Amino acid sequence: MRIDIITIFPEMFSAVLSESIVKRAQQKGKVGIFVHDLREYSLDKHHKVDDRPFGGGSGMLLQAEPIFRAVSAVKRRIRGKVRVILLCPQGKTFNQRYAKKLSRCANLIFVCGHYEGVDERVRQHLADEEISIGDYVLTGGELPAMVLADSIVRLLPGVLGDKNSLNFESFEGNLLEYPQYSRPAKFRKWSVPGVLVSGAHDKIAAWRRSEALKRTKKRRPDLLKKQV
Ligand SMILES: C[S@@+](CC[C@H](N)C(=O)[O-])C[C@H]1O[C@@H](n2cnc3c(N)ncnc32)[C@H](O)[C@@H]1O
Repeated sequence: MRIDIITIFPEMFSAVLSESIVKRAQQKGKVGIFVHDLREYSLDKHHKVDDRPFGGGSGMLLQAEPIFRAVSAVKRRIRGKVRVILLCPQGKTFNQRYAKKLSRCANLIFVCGHYEGVDERVRQHLADEEISIGDYVLTGGELPAMVLADSIVRLLPGVLGDKNSLNFESFEGNLLEYPQYSRPAKFRKWSVPGVLVSGAHDKIAAWRRSEALKRTKKRRPDLLKKQV
C-alpha cells in the first residue's frame, strides 16, 4: 500500500510515522507513507496557499489551486487506482469497518484541511470521499490523517507480529474486547479470575466470549444490534 498525505504542516507527522508499528510496517515494505508540503504547489511567490472566503466571514480557506496541483503531482507518481480522501468534520464517520475497507486499497491520498477548511471545489471536484473522525472540530486534518494511517496500516497483512491479535480486538464481530490481565496473578488485594490461570483453553475461550458480550451489552449495546 501507498499513502500520500498533503498538508501545510508536514513536520507534524514525523513523530507518529517514525515510531512503533507504523515505522516497522514501512521498514518491512508493507506500506510507503509520503508527506507533501502543500506550499510547494503554490503558484504564489511567497508560497501562500490560503485566502479569505467570498462573501465575508472569519478565517481563511485553503485554496483549490495548490491542492489540485499537489494531488495531480502525487497521482503522476502512482501506478494503479488512487482514492483521494478529504479529512473533514462533515464527512462520513470513520470506524473499524471503514479502516478495513480502506486497508484493501492500493493507494490513498489524504488531503488535510486547515484554518476554516478548504475551498468547496476540492470537495466537489477532487475528493473521492470525505471522512470525519468524530463529531468535533479539530484545528486541522493532520491528526485525523494520522488516525486513519495508523488504524489502516496495522490491518495490512504481515504488519502485526501475531495476526490473531486482530481477530479478538474490539469491534471485531461487533463486540468489545474481553477484560485482560497480566502478571502477577494477585496485585494488592485483587486476583485474576480463576479461569484464566486454570490452563483450560476451552473454558478460557468461553469465559472471554461471555465477558465480551457482557461488556458490549453494558457499554455499547448499539454494536450488538449490528451482529448477524
Ligand atoms: C477548523 S476545521 C474546519 C471546520 C469547518 N469550518 C466546518 O465547520 O466544517 C479545519 C480542518 O480540520 C480538519 N478537521 C477538523 N475536524 C475534523 C474531524 N472531526 N474529522 C476530520 N477532519 C477534521 C479538516 O481537514 C478541516 O478542513
